[in-house]
Amino acid sequence: FDQNEVDQILSEFHLQEEDLHVLMCRMQAEMERGLHLETNEEASVKMLPTYVRSTPDGSEVGDFLALDLGGTNFRVMLVKVGEDLEGQWKVETKHKMYSIPVDAMTGTAEMLFDYIAECISDYLDQQNMKHKKLPLGFTFSFPVRHEDIDKGILLNWTKGFKASGAEGNNVVGLLRDAIKRRGDFEMDVVAMVNDTVATMISCYYEDHHCEVGLIVGTGCNACYMEEMSNVELVEGEEGRMCVNTEWGAFGDTGELEDFRLEYDRVVDEASLNPGQQLYEKMIGGKYMGELVRLVLIKMVNENLLFGGESSEKLKTRGAFETQFVSQIEADTSDFKQTLNILRTLGVQATIGDCHAVRLACESVSTRAAIMCSAGLAGILNRMRQSRREELLRITVGVDGSVYKLHPSFKDKFHATVLKLTSGCEITFIQSEEGSGRGAALISAVAYKMAVMIG
Ligand code: BG6
Ligand code: GLC
Repeated sequence: FDQNEVDQILSEFHLQEEDLHVLMCRMQAEMERGLHLETNEEASVKMLPTYVRSTPDGSEVGDFLALDLGGTNFRVMLVKVGEDLEGQWKVETKHKMYSIPVDAMTGTAEMLFDYIAECISDYLDQQNMKHKKLPLGFTFSFPVRHEDIDKGILLNWTKGFKASGAEGNNVVGLLRDAIKRRGDFEMDVVAMVNDTVATMISCYYEDHHCEVGLIVGTGCNACYMEEMSNVELVEGEEGRMCVNTEWGAFGDTGELEDFRLEYDRVVDEASLNPGQQLYEKMIGGKYMGELVRLVLIKMVNENLLFGGESSEKLKTRGAFETQFVSQIEADTSDFKQTLNILRTLGVQATIGDCHAVRLACESVSTRAAIMCSAGLAGILNRMRQSRREELLRITVGVDGSVYKLHPSFKDKFHATVLKLTSGCEITFIQSEEGSGRGAALISAVAYKMAVMIG
């Protein structure tokens, strides 16, 4: 294959060190605008207060039900929160996965929440717990403007969800109504959290330096503990509150125009939410495979790949799955896996083609890792400055299929974050069952407070 011409096409994906500084500064500027009352409306990065505070005063022990909606899978979990014999926190989960039919994702809110209630009912039957009114923690991984920990309106759907009649409404109310409509079990919905927040909290219990949560999965987002005095949208000055940045929307007011390529524009225009989540669309797993597909089509059209012959399958939107990117990049030098994948896509590939396809995958995933590190570095440098610390010791709890499953995303991401942050000692921990455990732990705190107040 013609390495020079391929390189030339892919060179558009390369970012220079100065680009990263530009991205990081623009991200910080948007974060700042999002935190201020007067500028929040127009800021692309919404900086949503979560009502999860830095000073929980004890929590309840016992059984909690947790729901996890918004990643690759919808999950219902029973979580046992308690202390073991040494007084260590112990959290045990038993989960069941359900797939959400596309009809439910894109129909009406009633259909979606009825389906969720149906899954809970099925799970309770299976666990023989229908009779129990459990406290429930809901991990709902979309932008929510909270009024309290158990109340908040959905601002807009992201990641291919589009159920009508949900945007602008209280999500916990939609869930409670669906449970009432079914009428075969009762639940006490005590907390709703974003997946970034659940991830952070679940890691916080292992490592008290964990004050940042990051998801690089279907979507991409981060939360962190901000000084209350900077959170103008909520009254009070003391302590810290977790802010869900919703940084996936970075770029929606033009901040990424000089970085977006023709492929990014095609992906955006064909999506369910054009013009929205532009940063996320350059990073998240929902879009990564499609970006690679568009690059491959471009290379075919320039006669650089597959002898200039595409296939019906390759021309189909969504045909190149994001997991192929990981599989191709992890392939051995005989390209066995790559050849297999390309065969299922109906194209005739030579070993030279495999090299070119791998380079395309690497260009797209490396740009994603690097773009994402500029965002995280923006948060970490901001935290260090506002805490006036010479050395910020910080742990970042991370989850998501791109971060966990891609063979080199993590390493490139970590290395670039380190390059962009001086004066920070950063530890990354991968969260396991983070959403279930995190939602239950927050519910345990919220429940205790509700019991105390009640
Ligand atoms: C999970 C968390 O495993 O990671 C979810 O439990 C989160 O809450 C998800 O949304 C993100 O990753 P993905 O790849 O499933 O979108
Ligand atoms: C999308 C959602 C956000 C979520 C992220 C990761 O960006 O808007 O709430 O945290 O995906 O799942």
